[in-house]
Amino acid sequence: MASEKMLKALNDQFNFELLSGYYYMAMASYCSAEDMEGMSHFLHEQSKEEYEHAMKFYEFINDIDGRVKMQAMEEPKNDYSSFLEVFQEALSHEELVTSKINDLLDMAIEEKDYPTMQFLQWFVEEQVEEEASMKAIISKLERIKGNFNGLYQLDKQLSAR
Ligand code: FEO
Repeated sequence: MASEKMLKALNDQFNFELLSGYYYMAMASYCSAEDMEGMSHFLHEQSKEEYEHAMKFYEFINDIDGRVKMQAMEEPKNDYSSFLEVFQEALSHEELVTSKINDLLDMAIEEKDYPTMQFLQWFVEEQVEEEASMKAIISKLERIKGNFNGLYQLDKQLSAR
């Protein structure tokens, strides 16, 4: 049985995953407004993935007899000065998620909470992928340096996600 402290931390992360989806929706909306539909599509898909992450927490909390509680969401950043800034923001957000997953894992290890440790393993691997995909896009955007043809090609590539 997970401790009350652990259940609260898992519920906080459930809410943070939902908030992540909300952040990505705001980024997608900026890209749509700037006519970069491929980038917008990529970020919408990312938003959906965050909902799936949240639901993994939802199901796990229920499986261990906890109670999921919804929390207030802060307003995400809605305005950006460039596509590079969007994806830099996405990477910073993923780094924050990674640090939160690591903190949860530290807590589970400290409490010898083996089911939670096992549950979190999937997220440890997922975060490596999430950070890598944002870094790959940032490195392309840095090379493109706002060149329209380059942006168009990248947009087309991201529409295939
Ligand atoms: Fe759920 Fe992108 O971390």
